[in-house]
Amino acid sequence: MLPKSSSRGERRSVTVLVLGVENLSTAENLNSEEKYLIADELMHFLVDTVYEHGGTIDKLSGDGVLALFGVPAIHENDPEHAVRAALGMLSRLEEFNRHVIQKYRTTVHVRIGIHTGWVILGKVNTDLKVEYNIVGSTLALAAKLQMAAGRDTILVSADTYKRTKAYFVFKEHPPVTLKKSPTPIPVFQPVDVRAFPAKVRGFFGFQSPLVGRDAELSQLRQTFSAMMTRHEPHIVFITGEAGMGKSRIVAEFCTSIEQQPVNVAEGWCYNYARVKPFALMASLLRNIIRLSEALPPVQQRSVVRTYLQRLGVSVDDILPYVLEVLGVPTPAGEKESDSPQLDSAVLQRLIFAALRHLLIAEAERRPLVLIFEDLHWVDAASEKFIEHLLRTTHNQQMLLLIVSRHTEGEAVLQLLRDAAGQHPVREMRLEPLSLDETRALVESLMQCDRAESARVSLRLAKRAAGNPFFAEEIVRTLIEQGALTREKDSWRLKTIADDALLNSVPDTLHGLIMARYDRLEPPVQETLRIAAVLGVSFPVEV
Ligand SMILES: Nc1ncnc2c1ncn2[C@@H]1O[C@H](COP(=O)(O)OP(=O)(O)O)[C@@H](O)[C@H]1O
Ligand SMILES: [Mg+2]
Repeated sequence: MLPKSSSRGERRSVTVLVLGVENLSTAENLNSEEKYLIADELMHFLVDTVYEHGGTIDKLSGDGVLALFGVPAIHENDPEHAVRAALGMLSRLEEFNRHVIQKYRTTVHVRIGIHTGWVILGKVNTDLKVEYNIVGSTLALAAKLQMAAGRDTILVSADTYKRTKAYFVFKEHPPVTLKKSPTPIPVFQPVDVRAFPAKVRGFFGFQSPLVGRDAELSQLRQTFSAMMTRHEPHIVFITGEAGMGKSRIVAEFCTSIEQQPVNVAEGWCYNYARVKPFALMASLLRNIIRLSEALPPVQQRSVVRTYLQRLGVSVDDILPYVLEVLGVPTPAGEKESDSPQLDSAVLQRLIFAALRHLLIAEAERRPLVLIFEDLHWVDAASEKFIEHLLRTTHNQQMLLLIVSRHTEGEAVLQLLRDAAGQHPVREMRLEPLSLDETRALVESLMQCDRAESARVSLRLAKRAAGNPFFAEEIVRTLIEQGALTREKDSWRLKTIADDALLNSVPDTLHGLIMARYDRLEPPVQETLRIAAVLGVSFPVEV
């Protein structure tokens, strides 16, 4: 039986961001009012940046900020939100300093440390205010990283790096020796957002060959062949739980059509971008045009212009709307003075027309395979546009692969199913792998002597419950905990993994599990929370 008390602290995986302001309070060339004004303005935009990225402010003073990502609600990608926030802070600081130097003849500098780990949150409920007392070494490590960081730079721990390396460009940084710890630890310095995010899943650079999914792959190939002979959009809805292999099956399919005379483009949805109009379409367009966000706006505009010219569409009619979707600003001097202020409904119609025109022109050049990834996180404007595209496109050679978690994406999937009704549609729901398949996957991931891995693979496979991502995470845990070690060219299972090891919920799964946990009904939540605090294992199929 689980105890009933609700006053226990919660054990959670949280990303902690610590920012320290350099020398502002001791700066000699500023009087106290000036210091106050600078600190006030500085804190304003720092706090805004944290909120914009879904973080919470835990502590704030003129000298620093302590922000948490993962409370009160956990998102799968809290570490990524935190790094984005930190990069955002630095770029706003640059802007801020341009005006501070003019006004006060000085500049402000910060250092940021980020770490992701377990914390116990002590909830104190007074006046309906929730306070989080963070206990544990997670906070201490974030603070030490902050102190070790260079001026106006960010240092993140290996844990945060592991979960964010797909999204950011990292600069090499030598390991640092932190206060009170004898050995240097690896640290990583994020410097920019990647223009084309890599896929986060998969670990340590090795992947298992595809296990099972033969039927699904051949269905995709069939639909593809049908699309190549019939001038009509074909649609496949690929749905399934997180980690079930949706992106993987799409990737395998794309590899299998590499030699075909088609254009393949993919757009991604991210949960932090749900509120950003046309976020998905912007990501798709960037992929089609091969346009990096890292380019300065002037260059981005010229890349888009050249692209549209080559595509053979009327540049003047389309360019402004494509730039609007991409979020590339028009310089003040170039704004057409006679262009009337459009109301938003009109603007949306014009954007829809421009996007549709562009995609149809692409499809007329070459059959077009469009992949819409993680649609359960789609922004409203892109959702409406895809619906519009499905309803108004009839004779084009397009294959749309619409990928989504089925429960979270239910509403958008239904909308698009209705819109797609007139075209050939295939439903592809990815079910858990069979126990045999999961076992084969675990053994293939362990990469050690078959007889050795067979000792534990059945139990591990059961634990993974047919979810390939869980299988990977479980094997990764074995490596991290030293049960599976590298010896020359092969891996060895050192000791028979004990029950505690087999039962431990891997850390990176925690976000996924907890993200669902945050949406459960209160009584269920309570049980899970206590289970988490007590370290009682609970099945991953929450
Ligand atoms: N059938 C499979 N065989 C081997 N590995 C797989 C299989 N399906 C998925 N994986 C791996 O499992 C991980 C999670 O799969 P992914 O496609 O990212 O899941 P989803 O997109 O459904 O959330 C990836 O590393 C992927 O390569
Ligand atoms: Mg995926």
